[in-house]
Amino acid sequence: MNPEEMRSKPNSKKRSLANSDSLLMTSPISERVENLLGRMTLEEKVGQMTQVEKDSLPAGAVKRYFIGSVLSGGGGNPVNNTPAGWLEMSSTFEKEALETRLGIPILYGVDAVHGHSHVVGATVFPHNIGLGASRDPDLVKRVAGATALEIGATGVHWTFAPCVAVPQDIRWGRTYEGFSEDAELVATLGAAYVSGLQRGEDLGSPGTILACPKHYLGDGGTTWGTTLPYPWITDNPQGVNPRYKIDQGDTQISEAQLREIHLKPYIAAITAGARTIMVSFSSWNGVKSHANHYLLTDLLKGEIGFSGFLVSDWQAIDQIDADYYKCVTESINAGMDMIMVPFNYLRFIENLKRAIDHGDVPASRIDDAVRRILTVKFELGLFDRKFAEESGLENLGSEDHRLLAREAVRKSLVLLKNDHHTIPLDKSVPQIILAGTAADNIGIQCGGWTIEWQGCAGDITPGTSLLEAVQQAVSMETIVQYDEMGFFADDIQAEVGIVCMHEIPYAEGVGDRAELTLNVEDVNLLKRVRNRCQKLVVIIFSGRPLIITEQLPLADTWLAAWLPGTEAQGITDVIFGDYPPVGRLPYEWPRSGSGPNQIFEPTGTGDIAPLFPVGYGLH
Ligand code: GLC
Repeated sequence: MNPEEMRSKPNSKKRSLANSDSLLMTSPISERVENLLGRMTLEEKVGQMTQVEKDSLPAGAVKRYFIGSVLSGGGGNPVNNTPAGWLEMSSTFEKEALETRLGIPILYGVDAVHGHSHVVGATVFPHNIGLGASRDPDLVKRVAGATALEIGATGVHWTFAPCVAVPQDIRWGRTYEGFSEDAELVATLGAAYVSGLQRGEDLGSPGTILACPKHYLGDGGTTWGTTLPYPWITDNPQGVNPRYKIDQGDTQISEAQLREIHLKPYIAAITAGARTIMVSFSSWNGVKSHANHYLLTDLLKGEIGFSGFLVSDWQAIDQIDADYYKCVTESINAGMDMIMVPFNYLRFIENLKRAIDHGDVPASRIDDAVRRILTVKFELGLFDRKFAEESGLENLGSEDHRLLAREAVRKSLVLLKNDHHTIPLDKSVPQIILAGTAADNIGIQCGGWTIEWQGCAGDITPGTSLLEAVQQAVSMETIVQYDEMGFFADDIQAEVGIVCMHEIPYAEGVGDRAELTLNVEDVNLLKRVRNRCQKLVVIIFSGRPLIITEQLPLADTWLAAWLPGTEAQGITDVIFGDYPPVGRLPYEWPRSGSGPNQIFEPTGTGDIAPLFPVGYGLH
C-alpha cells in the first residue's frame, strides 16, 4: 500500500474498531493485528510509533495524534506523588487513547528499576548490583513479581527494566544498574527479572507487567573518555554534559567480544519472554546503536529472531545527526520501532510522515514497526485487561513487599573483612556509637532513580534507615548514640562503633567518576570513631566498589551494602547475627586507582591484582 493509499483509508465508522467484532476478540492475535493494521491511516500508524513524556502532552494531544505510548521519565511524577495520584495520571492518558477512532490503548512506561521507586510509599528494593551480589535468581524473580504488582496498581503497563548491561568499567555511573561484570550472571538474573515481571508464559495474565531489557547493545562496554557532546541538542542536559565521560560513549571491541559479553543477556531475556528492548545511547566502534541496521535488524530481529519491538532511549535518535530528518530516517530504517521522542512529538510525526511521502522510509517498514507494537499490545492484554484492578493500591509498600525487600538486602550484603569475628554483634552490648550522614538518610540509602531521576538525599519516602534498624535490633538496655559527623564526647569509649560511608545519589553519566577513592569526610569520620570504640564496623552504601585499601586496616569489619533501598533491617539482620552474610562480589573490587575492569581479560591479570576478586565474600 503506498502512502496515498494509506492516507486515503479512513474508516467512516465512529465507534472503536479495535475490539469491534466479538469474533475478532477470540481470533488469533496475528489476525486481530492484521485486521486492525488494515484499518489504520498513516497518522494512526505514525502515532503508534511515537512515545511522549507525559509533561509534553497537553490535554487532548494523545487523542488528536493517536499517540501510542506515554512515559514518565526519571522524576516524571504526578504533582500528587502518591499511588492514587499515579493511577489518576495514567488513567487520564489511557482514557484519551480509548476515545480515538480505533481505541488502541496506550502503553504507559516508567523506570521502575528497583521497585516502583518514583512513587512515594512504594517498596524500594536493592539496586541490581545488590541483587547481583545475591546470585539468587529465585529472589530476583520474586522481587520483580512484587514490583510488577506495585506498578500495575498505578495503571502503568511497562517498566524499562531490567537493565542487562554488563559493566566493564566501574567508573561508569550506571554500574549499580548492572547485576554484574559477569555476562553469565547478568543473563541468569536478567531472565529471572523478566520472568518475574511477566509471570512466566502468558504475557496477558493478571499482574503481568511488560518488561524492557536495556540498553542494546554494549552499553556497559564503553571506553572512558569517548562520550561525545551533541551541541545541536539544546532542550536536554544530556545534549552536552561535561560530566558524562563514559556513559553513552563508544564500545570499542570486536564483534566476538560484543557477542560474548553483551549479547548473551538479551538472548536469555528473549528466551524468558521479553517482548520489548530498549536501544542504547552508546555506539559500537563509532556507529550509534540507534542507527545500526546490522545490530538492530540483521542481528537482533534476523539472526536471533526477536519479534517484539524496539524502543529508543530518551531523545537518543537526536544524537545521530544535527539534521533531525536524518535522525528519523536512519533510526527507523535501521530497525527502530517506537521512538521515545520525548518532547517535540509534532516534529517527529511531521518528519516521519514526510520521510514516508518522499519514499525515504518505506511503507513496509512502518507496517512492520506498527505490526510489532500492536502484537505486543494484544499479547499484553492491553485491549481487555484493567491493570489497576488486578492488584490494588494497597500493594504499594505492603508489609509483605517490605519483608521481601529486607530479605533481598540481607542476601545482597558482601562481608569484605571481619577480624576477630567482630560480627555478629551482641544485641545487648551496653553502648553503640553510630556515625555517618547516610546512617539516617533514606534517600542516600536508596540511591538514584528514587523519587527523582538522580535520586536525592533526605527523608524522601517511607522506609527504615540504618539508625532506625539498629535502634530496633538492640536490647532495651543498649544505648545507641548517633552523630552524623562522628563527634562524640571525650569520655565516650564504646564497645562498638558503626560508621556508614556513602556515595551521594546519582544516575547515568552524572555518576561517571574518574577516581573512586573514599571522600575525605568519610575518612576523617572513620578516624574519629576509631578512637572512640573497641570494635569498629564500616558499612558502605555505594553504587560500585570504592577504593578502601588504605583505610581497610582501620576497621575490624567492612560490609558492602550497595544501595539497599528502604529496608535497612536487612543489614542489622546480618550484623547482629539473625542471618549469616551470603553475598558475593558481582564486580572485582580494585586495589588502587580506578582503572577499567577488563572482564574479557582473566581477572587479576591486569597490572594490579584486585583487592578482592569477583565472587569474593566472607560467609
Ligand atoms: C534514560 C535512560 C533509560 C531510561 C530512559 C527513560 O535516559 O538511559 O535507562 O529508561 O531514559 O527514563
